[in-house]
Amino acid sequence: MTREEYIENHKDKFLDELFDLLRIPSISADSAFAGDVQKTAEYVAKRLQEAGADNVTLEKTAGNPIVYGEKMVGPSKPTILVYGHYDVQPSVPDELWNSPPFEPTIKNGNIYARGACDDKGQMYMHLKAFETMMETNTLHCNVKFMIEGEEEIGSTNLGIYVKENQEKLAADVVLISDTGMIANDIPSISIGLRGMSYVEVEVTGPKIDLHSGSYGGAVGNPINILCDMISSLHDENRHITIPGFYDKVDEVSDAERAEMAKTPFNLDAYKSELDVEDVLGEKGYSTIERTGIRPTLDVNGIWGGYIGEGAKTVLPSKAYAKISMRLVPSQTSAEITEMFQKHFESIAPAAVKVKVTPHHGGEAAVTPTDSKAYRAASKAMEKTFGKKPVPTRGGGSIPIVALFEEILGLKTVLFGFGLDSDAIHSPNEKYGLFNFYKGIETIPYFYEYFSEEES
Ligand code: BES
Ligand code: MN
Ligand code: MN
Repeated sequence: MTREEYIENHKDKFLDELFDLLRIPSISADSAFAGDVQKTAEYVAKRLQEAGADNVTLEKTAGNPIVYGEKMVGPSKPTILVYGHYDVQPSVPDELWNSPPFEPTIKNGNIYARGACDDKGQMYMHLKAFETMMETNTLHCNVKFMIEGEEEIGSTNLGIYVKENQEKLAADVVLISDTGMIANDIPSISIGLRGMSYVEVEVTGPKIDLHSGSYGGAVGNPINILCDMISSLHDENRHITIPGFYDKVDEVSDAERAEMAKTPFNLDAYKSELDVEDVLGEKGYSTIERTGIRPTLDVNGIWGGYIGEGAKTVLPSKAYAKISMRLVPSQTSAEITEMFQKHFESIAPAAVKVKVTPHHGGEAAVTPTDSKAYRAASKAMEKTFGKKPVPTRGGGSIPIVALFEEILGLKTVLFGFGLDSDAIHSPNEKYGLFNFYKGIETIPYFYEYFSEEES
């Protein structure tokens, strides 16, 4: 049987299994789901073993388990390290979903569920591509699977695991499907990820909530002040004002910017898809540059005071915000977090106290286009899409990628099949059936071309 025939004959089985995986709410950010996270790891391990992997284990960490498994076909063959994550983002606000987030539903050729694209659907393509190669005797590379459960909360324990298991994880390349492509008829390969500095700030005014009539106008209101402080973090050109923030930003050459400008991108379609009249970002840069090669600062959540029904007149004691900064090479998250902390404390008026608590961080990564692995990925996509993929710089972050390079000396291929419109992290996340099956079909060609190129 050819691989195409095997995939065709097992389409329903592949999808049923993915649905079972999507039904388990493996939300890593919320400890209430710890049991489900564990169940998900067990489910992935079981399926990996059934697909034909050896030495499948749930590797214990200080947090969620890592699923490991491997198939070694020969010491002279190249080894691919497949990475993915089985944890998902919270599904809230649930009321905005058209079908429940953990009851996968098919509509118009798409699978709707939390994790459908990020990353259960994309990760599961690798297990099914592996099964297909096993069942059709076409696996000619060694493969090691490492599927973690803490990507959405910063991969801290995975970093420790990788440091402690360098020999076990030895490979020639890392292969990850956890990014997107431009469109189903414009295949692309991500060649960049941004780093991240994530902090939470707490602004405290008076020690208790006060009557806003008796005290308003006379005592600093922490919400008003937090808003002032946050808005001062950008200037009129949407440049970030933290001293030193841009010091280490690698300037991208004019040649590379000219190359980026050729990336297929339609600003009008982008605006209408998002239902915005206009875009907004750092002056002097295009939209794809703003997300691909420039650092940013965004408030992800802000709260404080009275938000219940009706009106309550109160001058709150505290205000909070969660702030993320996307970083580019050669900024480092530790330095940026420290700069933020110092700056934020320095701009606080004496009327309030501020506390900055760092959450997770991670470094940016750029992957090469002149490597055997990139050529194999490009050829594989060209084979199944009938078009050569375009390299693009993505705006998201996968913190472990920089560590693969730093600790294991390995480059990564970001072999993503998602779309921007898949609404990852949002209500009604989806993944196309086309994309799911196309990924399963394309991945084995990567193995094939990579082993040819190696030998
Ligand atoms: N799969 C995404 C990363 C991604 C998103 C890559 C969009 C390319 C395009 C990943 O699961 C993710 O969401 N990462 C987090 C980082 C983490 C430290 C919370 C992110 O980018 O916010
Ligand atoms: Mn992901
Ligand atoms: Mn994600």
